[in-house]
Amino acid sequence: MTDAPLDPLIALRPWEAPEVTSWGRLPMNAVDRRPGALPLDGDWRFELLSAPDAPVGGPWSSAHVPGVWTMQGTDDLPQYTNVRMPFPEYPPHSPAANPTGVYEREVDVPADWAGRRIVLQVGAAESVLLVHVDGRPVGISKDSHLAAEFDLTGVTRPGSPATVRLTVVKWSDASHIEDQDQWWHGGITRSVLLYATDPLHLADVTVRARYSGDLQVDCRVRDAGGALPAGWYLTGELDGRPLAQDAEFDRANAEDERVSDFLGEARLLTTVPEVRTWNAETPELYDLTVRLHRADGTVADTSRHRIGFRDVEIVGRDLLVNGERVFIRGVNRHDFHPLTGRTVSYDDMRADLVLLKRFGFNAIRTAHYPNDPTLYDLADELGFYVVDEADIESHDHAHEIADDPRYLNAFVDRVSRMVLRDKNHPSVVIWSLGNESDYGAGHDAAAGWVRRHDPTRPLQYEGAAKLGWADPGLASDIACPMYAPLEDCVAHALSGEQTKPLIPCEYSHAMGNSSGTLADHWAAIEATPGLQGGFIWEFWDHGILQRVSDGRPVGRGGAGLYDNGVAAPGYRWAYGGDFGETIHDGAFIADGVVFPDRTPKPAMYEHREIAAPVRIECFRHEGVVLTNHQHFRGFDWLAAVWELSLADGRTLTAPAELPELCPGETAAVPLPFVLPEDGGEAWLTLRVTTATDLPWAPRGTEVCVPQVRLRGPAAVDVAAVARQVEVDGEGLLVHPLLTVAPTLSLWRAPTDNDELGGMAQRWRNWGLDALVRKVVSVRQDAGHVTVEAEYAGATGVVRHRQVLTPVEGGVRVEEEAELPEAFDDVARVGTVFETMAGLDLLDWFGQGPWESYPDRSAGAPVGHHSLPVDDLFTPYLRPQESGGRHGVRRFTLSATDATGLAVVLDEPRQVSVTRYRAEDLTAATHHDELVPRTGCVVHIDAAHRGLGTASCGPDTFPSYRVAPGLHRWSWTLRVL
Ligand code: GAL
Ligand code: MG
Repeated sequence: MTDAPLDPLIALRPWEAPEVTSWGRLPMNAVDRRPGALPLDGDWRFELLSAPDAPVGGPWSSAHVPGVWTMQGTDDLPQYTNVRMPFPEYPPHSPAANPTGVYEREVDVPADWAGRRIVLQVGAAESVLLVHVDGRPVGISKDSHLAAEFDLTGVTRPGSPATVRLTVVKWSDASHIEDQDQWWHGGITRSVLLYATDPLHLADVTVRARYSGDLQVDCRVRDAGGALPAGWYLTGELDGRPLAQDAEFDRANAEDERVSDFLGEARLLTTVPEVRTWNAETPELYDLTVRLHRADGTVADTSRHRIGFRDVEIVGRDLLVNGERVFIRGVNRHDFHPLTGRTVSYDDMRADLVLLKRFGFNAIRTAHYPNDPTLYDLADELGFYVVDEADIESHDHAHEIADDPRYLNAFVDRVSRMVLRDKNHPSVVIWSLGNESDYGAGHDAAAGWVRRHDPTRPLQYEGAAKLGWADPGLASDIACPMYAPLEDCVAHALSGEQTKPLIPCEYSHAMGNSSGTLADHWAAIEATPGLQGGFIWEFWDHGILQRVSDGRPVGRGGAGLYDNGVAAPGYRWAYGGDFGETIHDGAFIADGVVFPDRTPKPAMYEHREIAAPVRIECFRHEGVVLTNHQHFRGFDWLAAVWELSLADGRTLTAPAELPELCPGETAAVPLPFVLPEDGGEAWLTLRVTTATDLPWAPRGTEVCVPQVRLRGPAAVDVAAVARQVEVDGEGLLVHPLLTVAPTLSLWRAPTDNDELGGMAQRWRNWGLDALVRKVVSVRQDAGHVTVEAEYAGATGVVRHRQVLTPVEGGVRVEEEAELPEAFDDVARVGTVFETMAGLDLLDWFGQGPWESYPDRSAGAPVGHHSLPVDDLFTPYLRPQESGGRHGVRRFTLSATDATGLAVVLDEPRQVSVTRYRAEDLTAATHHDELVPRTGCVVHIDAAHRGLGTASCGPDTFPSYRVAPGLHRWSWTLRVL
């Protein structure tokens, strides 16, 4: 230690002072000056201290800004916890071992900034930021997800370099209110920049653009010198048309003795005739420019905005956008990247939103903090309803903090700064006070601030809504529960007691192979007035790309080391516990609808179909009824083709003409095909694509594939032939193409829902993962072999019978399994066998082409599908049941020379063909541990349990569970 006087920013120990939310930090505002600023991103000198009060002694290394040091080669690595804090200290304390990053660089302040007001903006730093310039303390700020600005006018000299030091303390009092379910990192996660303004400047701009076309722009003006110079005025333009300063407003101001010389206020007004209004379907934006003039007419400051005209209101129990009760097809989105942790580029954010648009989403909750500002620009442009959430989550210490006056300022500060920053975005339709922080006076104080400052938007807070959906108190206008059982939501809507829109802030937990019953949820939502949708949890699987050899995060250089959801050999997607942490919450961080590289999981296709803008229904077998299932637009942005899939293998197509329909309207159209007399089961599909290039999809992008059944299946007729079927001494079928004979399977590699919902443990207790087969009898009768076997588990025995009958070219297998009552609700009842190597292509008639399960099959149309076996498997981060296809009627598995096998099922069934046995998947913890087998593992299920969402929330419905008792199924195997 030295005797040098301690730096005041350190001496204050602001990391243990929740009352200190900032010092020297400028007020938040919505003036946009990013163009013209001096970017300070790039490599900075860097030293990682063991504690904030440890001496800075070098040697320097370097760190990239923006970026987290936890992903840049330091020994302080990412750590994942959900609820619990990663350290034992209680609020407001933090551990003595407290990684602290010191970032430093010289900044050349442009000489022509002389006389101007100079501002440093740090986009985001977690969790406490201390700013020094040339050794002088300049400021402090907290809130890891909002920018902090500091006035450097007096501390820098234009034309001379200045040394800027940003000290970032990782753990603090603020960590206790940033306990979101995500990785813990440390660093500067958003861009740093310097900009200059005239001393006379726009201090804030507040835009109110109404559905009626009325525009009001309220501006605040200040001068760095103090009193405002006389004669300043504003002008503005909207798409080139001039706005004028509201003279009446000025007159009233002139007479108002409260108006000071230090804060100028003025209003620009106009009404746009025939305004093109903004909504998520047609996000029309206008360019607004606001100019602040000096008395001589010269321009002192300019702010540019892209604005949208729209209204949001709650009427009765409905949330209305432009008077329409819109469905909220939402997702929760974190700022996440597998290489940079939390730093996301414009391209990344655009790619996120483009993908969401293509899969039918129209809403985002910025879980659980204000996202990068660019996200909102993109949401305005591409069309999303945004629930903008403040950076407050005190999950582990929620109850202690909610009423703690030491944290009161932090609550109000975080909420008010978010509102001040984002208030001009048409996409932001609801403010959220944060997440999982109990409910206390801090929330009411923040709510009070918002209600006064922005009466134009509703407010929500799950912690308040939890107290009573009909009466959530001051802090929520919306009943926004998490993972509420669907029946409770429906019951509330039907109870007559509903007073608020019911829009779950989280539902349908997408961890691993999940998202079961999504279609059932939406059927109820659409059928029940009072229900309007919700926000799926969540967008991302937060897997960090990790080098397996040394366990380190790869970091920024890792582009190209993954593809299609899978990390390259030698790498893997790390989840909790993979960086040597002892306190962690495992794979619970991998719970999104996309893989860490944004590859959509199959659940996305389910969502896409549920959100289909075009619906079709059969109309008395003569035609089809089409419905426009949108809120604001017609079908002119869509093109379509009819497709008829016949069981005999034919697929016919015909051009489709989409009728002109307003939202909600329907029209009957004649059947586009004369249904052939033969051909068996018949399905009519409308393949709908974009008709033109859109900002989020090139022309021809598939939008949905609604389908109706025109004719049911014909009975499968298989004639027995007089030949023998060969079985071995154990009664197992001997077949040249099979390496493992068909046996009974009651086990699937537990999904995350199976594990966390407790089902897998039950199945293990019953011994379903290790059934012991014992042949009881093998009877050769005229024309067939009957094999009786018993499969013994720990607590019960399943009787199983196979009747093997030779048929032309193969064998028919009729099976029966009788499950004891104790085996209530198993994963599956079916057959498993394995094939020889080389049969690498699966062709099937059934649902597809993507993975589907009994309770997640609405988005997989029936048709003739074909995929390489390797592409059938979905590489969930933690291996589990994967690759299933629902409603399969028949399939072939073939080699390149078209030899192979064909299977015909007695009725549509769940089938999977993968390279892995259920036990292979069960044993592995990460995808890279799996060693593909050369042959195929084939499951044909008489019954397969739905997926549900029990890893966090409701399990699948009883109708998707597998009952004990007798199951019967049959299938025919032939050689091609
Ligand atoms: C919610 C929480 C989310 C996440 C989710 C489970 O309770 O708000 O942040 O933890 O559960 O994945
Ligand atoms: Mg939480």
